[in-house]
Amino acid sequence: MAEPPRVYVTRALPAEALGPLQGVAEVQGWPEAEVPVPRDVLLAAAARADGLLVLLTDRVDVDLLAAAPRLRGVSTMSVGHDHVDVAACTRRGIPVCHTPDVLTETTADLAFALLMAAARRLYEGQRAVVQGRWPAWSPFFLAGHDVHGQTLGIVGLGRIGQAVARRARGFDMRILYSGRRERLEAAELGARRVPLQELVAQSDFVVLLAALTEETRHVVDADLLARMKPTAILVNAARGGLVDEAALVRALREGRIAGAALDVFEREPLPVDHPLLDLPNVVAVPHVGSATVATRMAMARLAAQNLADALAGRRPRYCLNPETLA
Ligand code: DGY
Repeated sequence: MAEPPRVYVTRALPAEALGPLQGVAEVQGWPEAEVPVPRDVLLAAAARADGLLVLLTDRVDVDLLAAAPRLRGVSTMSVGHDHVDVAACTRRGIPVCHTPDVLTETTADLAFALLMAAARRLYEGQRAVVQGRWPAWSPFFLAGHDVHGQTLGIVGLGRIGQAVARRARGFDMRILYSGRRERLEAAELGARRVPLQELVAQSDFVVLLAALTEETRHVVDADLLARMKPTAILVNAARGGLVDEAALVRALREGRIAGAALDVFEREPLPVDHPLLDLPNVVAVPHVGSATVATRMAMARLAAQNLADALAGRRPRYCLNPETLA
């Protein structure tokens, strides 16, 4: 009887989520839930693996592929895949799978929560209460910005961008978007496509939901920030690399924009001495866009199912390079 494929999982995940791999693969993994697998351990594991189930903290690059002669499938428990060299995998004929759809609504909830938190200065309010800096009710104490009726600019009207737009409709917002192509869904959402520079100039809230690619790296730079309204708020729920953080810090310090609400950073975890954290008008959370129990379970299960399918020669539900499939 043929040996079952060997799978390495780079983080401790609930056994229930790995169900699709049980009985069809020999599954081993890094035992920690909150500490990423060290690179040398991953390379050693990859050397004997037919399949890898990875997270966005693991780099799947040419060096890893060179160390993994048997590799036949890579599945990431994330929708974003900038940590995987998909082109290099394709050259090796290795399918790469990811987990869109199951996290769309949850991530849109978080993006909208960030927008609301920054607009209504919730974090500053929490700190004022906790630190005993709550004066008597005062006319303009912690006065923020309205959300309803304002203009929302969505950079990247993909699945999550559309879900944010649906929420914005409930707040009677005017919706603009920018992106490489016209989206058919935009008309139904009441969203109008404009060039990025126009989007930032007109929007009260600019929400980043584009994928990180060489084209989009630092798309929010000093020039773009200078075009935003001084009352505008930047929200990033996609990837830290979309924003030139040094330029963002300068723009916030100089009052060129009103605030930022960030789930993602150029370097994660964000160092505690990062200048962004000294700014009162910054809301920062630790890359938790999809972090609900139900959604993370769905992502883990889908990642396992995708990998099981790829290794069995079946068509995985979400494959980034379907040309590798027979
Ligand atoms: C992703 O899936 O890419 C998110 O950043 C984490 O859910």
